[in-house]
Amino acid sequence: MIRFSTAGESHGESLIALVSGLPAGLEVSLDFVNRELWRRQQGYGRGGRMRIERDQAHVLSGVRHGKTIGSPIAIEIANHDWKNWEEILPVEAGDPEKHKAVASPRPGHADLAGALKYGFTDARYVLERASARESTARVAGGAFAKILLRALNIEVTSHVVRVGRVELERNPGWDEIAALSNREEVLLNCADHETEQRMKAEVDHAVKTGDTIGGVFEVVVHGAPAGIGTYANWDERLDGILAWTVMSLQAVKAVEIGRGVTASQSFGSEVHDAIAYSDEEQVGHTRFTRDHNNAGGIEGGISNGEDIVVRGYLKPISTLRRPLTSVAFETREVTKAAYERSDICVVPAAGVAAEAMVAFAMAKLVLEKFGGDSAQELLRNYKGYLEQICRY
Ligand SMILES: Cc1cc2nc3c(=O)[nH]c(=O)nc-3n(C[C@H](O)[C@H](O)[C@H](O)COP(=O)(O)O)c2cc1C
Repeated sequence: MIRFSTAGESHGESLIALVSGLPAGLEVSLDFVNRELWRRQQGYGRGGRMRIERDQAHVLSGVRHGKTIGSPIAIEIANHDWKNWEEILPVEAGDPEKHKAVASPRPGHADLAGALKYGFTDARYVLERASARESTARVAGGAFAKILLRALNIEVTSHVVRVGRVELERNPGWDEIAALSNREEVLLNCADHETEQRMKAEVDHAVKTGDTIGGVFEVVVHGAPAGIGTYANWDERLDGILAWTVMSLQAVKAVEIGRGVTASQSFGSEVHDAIAYSDEEQVGHTRFTRDHNNAGGIEGGISNGEDIVVRGYLKPISTLRRPLTSVAFETREVTKAAYERSDICVVPAAGVAAEAMVAFAMAKLVLEKFGGDSAQELLRNYKGYLEQICRY
């Protein structure tokens, strides 16, 4: 069984991703893993921290001679900022004078609820783990899930469809979306140049007014066959699993499958994807086709062979340069919320982190369905299934 967990604090020495259960014999490119980490660091509206960090995966175990060996893969990503925090956040007691308290909890963060829950008298330790710096480790682990999916010709990528009030008003095709991940400069990861410029102006407006901004990213899984997930049990439905994994990301407050939101405002005849049959054989696919993909590739909790489309809705970043009011932990007096260096807009980066989560969920389901302790065994099982569904 594939498992994935992370450890590490925002200003700790490093972040750790632990992935176990991947079959042996998958070819691993560290350049690819590092490129994924680089992609998470990009986007217009990021704060000063991303200028300090140069995230690189240091693989400690589970990969030898460029291939997975079936044992747990531990990945470390060093925090360059640690040198500035070593004395503030030491592992041992250290000097209490150097401690940097988060004295008044920041609305929109885990600060208050976390301090109450864990019995802290300031929010420092809460911030350290609740911070989305953790998503770095998710991206490193998720890159290994992508490596497994790629061996089966399944690709996962994302693009940005909204920043604040600016929305992408057309549906880009797969090739256009996939090309975005090859860009050497990432502005807002939007497929449409003119819309992207308007998104940039929206971020500029937030910067100028000391505010922050949210938006919507879309993750697309291309090449997955029909039959992943099932309606048979509520907790095995693919839509439910993807909603949970994407919602688990920091700042994601709503998840949409396909055109779920507009579908809820439309008549059925305008929404459902009519079925046709093609005379031509499509390698790896059934001959059943659809006129569009409003369902986002999932019906009844099962992938139907179309692209799987999941959107994540991000709230605006909680840390404000002009902070809201809060209450000081120590004095109980009303004051301004604490401020700590922060991003203004993270929609492209959140999209990359969501890709990692979607890739992990898909890899887990693929392994559950097709099995295999080696890449060879998995590929054989997978090929047999594709042949079976292509006969329809
Ligand atoms: C990639 C990424 C980067 C983020 N950077 C920041 C940041 O710099 N400042 C901030 O206040 N929130 C940031 N967030 C959001 C917070 O981590 C998140 O809102 C907070 O932990 C509270 O969790 P919740 O929004 O899920 O309730 C970021 C989120 C993501 C996905």
